[in-house]
Amino acid sequence: MTEAAGQRVSSGLEGVYIAESTICKVDGQQGRLYYRGYPIDALSKNSDFEEVAYLLLYGKLPNRQELDGIRKQMAEARDLPRGVISIITEMSGKADPMDILRTAASSLSAYDPEVSDQSPEANLRKSIRIISRVSSIVATIGRINEGGSYVAPDKSMGHEENFLYMLNGKKPTERQLEIMKDMFIIHAEHSSNASTFGTMVAGSTLADIYSAITAGISVLKGPLHGGADEAALRMMKEIGSPNNTESYIEGALAGKKKIMGFGHRVYKTYDPRARIIKEYLVNLQPDASDEVKRYTEIALRAEKLMVDKLGQSHGIWPNVDFFAGPVYVAAGIPVELFTPIFAASRSAGWCAHMLEYWKNNKLFRPLEVYSGDIDLEYVPIENRK
Ligand SMILES: CC(C)(COP(=O)(O)OP(=O)(O)OC[C@H]1O[C@@H](n2cnc3c(N)ncnc32)[C@H](O)[C@@H]1OP(=O)(O)O)[C@@H](O)C(=O)NCCC(=O)NCCS
Repeated sequence: MTEAAGQRVSSGLEGVYIAESTICKVDGQQGRLYYRGYPIDALSKNSDFEEVAYLLLYGKLPNRQELDGIRKQMAEARDLPRGVISIITEMSGKADPMDILRTAASSLSAYDPEVSDQSPEANLRKSIRIISRVSSIVATIGRINEGGSYVAPDKSMGHEENFLYMLNGKKPTERQLEIMKDMFIIHAEHSSNASTFGTMVAGSTLADIYSAITAGISVLKGPLHGGADEAALRMMKEIGSPNNTESYIEGALAGKKKIMGFGHRVYKTYDPRARIIKEYLVNLQPDASDEVKRYTEIALRAEKLMVDKLGQSHGIWPNVDFFAGPVYVAAGIPVELFTPIFAASRSAGWCAHMLEYWKNNKLFRPLEVYSGDIDLEYVPIENRK
């Protein structure tokens, strides 16, 4: 906080509580994360994305019938309207996949007859459709980017399996499926982070849920937030050989550069999601490709150096984005899809927050401390210097 003109300004809204919520607890001191009270480790071990989406939206784990219900609703919503596929095709090769996703996700509203129905029931139905379709969009962006054409979804598959099927045009391996399950669960929710807040700001005006989710995607794109997973892998690529790791990191820090995938506004200890992904990465080593082995060695050496230098002393630890890249590479996911996949998963958290916030909606309208001039005399353009 800084004091300005007698007012307290919280830069980046640090330390400011914006709502009360029962969706997610981030314990930044102990390094714990809970969705609706369930520890993330238990969910990542036992659950899948549809169940987690249900948990986030409804506030409880589904029974068998409820789970079958949401699986069916999501499977039925998977197919993309032709207009959305055209947008993806048109933008492919010209725009960043996150820009394509933002545009395509926004266009979904044109195909939803309930778009202006703001009742809680309609918003819940729309949320389920959005959560399903954002993944279809991301898979299709990846597919078309690689020169393929739209793969119609397979309703008999689970969410993650269908995602990989739409992306690659073939059934995934066990390993790919396991990785996607973990990633979809781990990225599904994280309280009032920047993109969720962006979603809530848009939704708090009572704009429809498509507008709110489009805002969330826009906010997620930046490298300080969701874009960090891509940036971290690009850095590992640039480092090239494991033996260059220490000199690269030391050089970057000396040049006051941030190392992507480290640091967090809330976690001042090891991010529990990074711990899970790191463990996964280490466990898959025996069967990993040379490329994944190289990234892993670079990542582990960079982690050691960063933790020794900045962990205890500065509270800068690996976050969710640091080890994600090598794991995605092991699943055959191209780097430009990392952040769109984050969005596909986080759409569940965004929707859950919107549904909750709308129960007691209040327009977000913070203040600024004005520090400019006042009562200036208007000077005609001819008389200006
Ligand atoms: C996430 C992040 C924006 C949160 O930071 P924040 O609470 O806003 O804090 P700041 O960016 O102001 O950083 C505070 C200090 O730590 C340093 N720092 C933070 N993250 C750092 C990183 N990844 N590498 C090196 N230094 C870092 C800053 O340079 C700053 O140092 P200073 O006080 O000497 O100027 C920040 O840690 C960051 O930019 N990380 C890299 C991007 C990333 O991985 N984002 C994904 C988050 S899940």
